[in-house]
Amino acid sequence: MLPRPSVIAVANSGGRGRRVARWYPAGPMDALDFLRQRRSVPSRQLGPPGPAPDQLEAMLTEAMRVPDHGKLAPWRFLRIPGEARRALGELLAARALERDPSAPAAVVEKDRQRFDHAPVVIAVVACLVPGHKVPEQEQLLSGGAVCFALLQAAQALGFGAQWLTGWAAYDPVVRARLGLGPDERLLGFIHIGTAREPAPERQRPALADKLSDWTP
Ligand SMILES: Cc1cc2nc3c(=O)[nH]c(=O)nc-3n(C[C@H](O)[C@H](O)[C@H](O)COP(=O)(O)O)c2cc1C
Repeated sequence: MLPRPSVIAVANSGGRGRRVARWYPAGPMDALDFLRQRRSVPSRQLGPPGPAPDQLEAMLTEAMRVPDHGKLAPWRFLRIPGEARRALGELLAARALERDPSAPAAVVEKDRQRFDHAPVVIAVVACLVPGHKVPEQEQLLSGGAVCFALLQAAQALGFGAQWLTGWAAYDPVVRARLGLGPDERLLGFIHIGTAREPAPERQRPALADKLSDWTP
């Protein structure tokens, strides 16, 4: 049994209690229930409060418990907190215009606001070891597992989170300004905060469409 997630059901807003959306069933959950409830919260629906420093530390620590062929730990975290989020948004807006000077104002504004919602954004960076006997694909997969584990850890602590990339993750100028080296890849921005409203569910693939038996 997992402890019930410490969902922040009432957050302080101007001294008054504010109910914050919760999408978990009441009562204790076992691990499979928890996985059944897993879903992302769109970043635009995330707001304060974000994780406290000790909660974030716990999330990041648990997110590193991933399969890792060769024990290379080929990933790192880049924290983009508070004011840094707005600065990153400004960088994206400026770069969007550089890439396409005729970009509509609304599109540029969307880029400017990309990191405004969730109080904490963590960029997960793959640090590839080129030429290693563990293929790069496996190193990338381990980093992808870190991203997913971080989503789960955030949800386990009662927060909402979403894994986003967008063009910025692949843009050479943005990558350089974030300090990524030539053998590093930006695997995603994990936006973490409190869900303002119940997270939408989406249709999930049916297992029958995805499972087949291999017969020799
Ligand atoms: C590597 C990766 C990058 C993603 N980037 C984006 C993105 O840029 N924009 C977006 O709307 N969703 C993106 N998504 C999808 C969301 O993270 C998320 O899966 C989606 O909102 C559905 O929610 P779910 O996790 O509950 O299925 C990405 C997912 C992955 C795995």
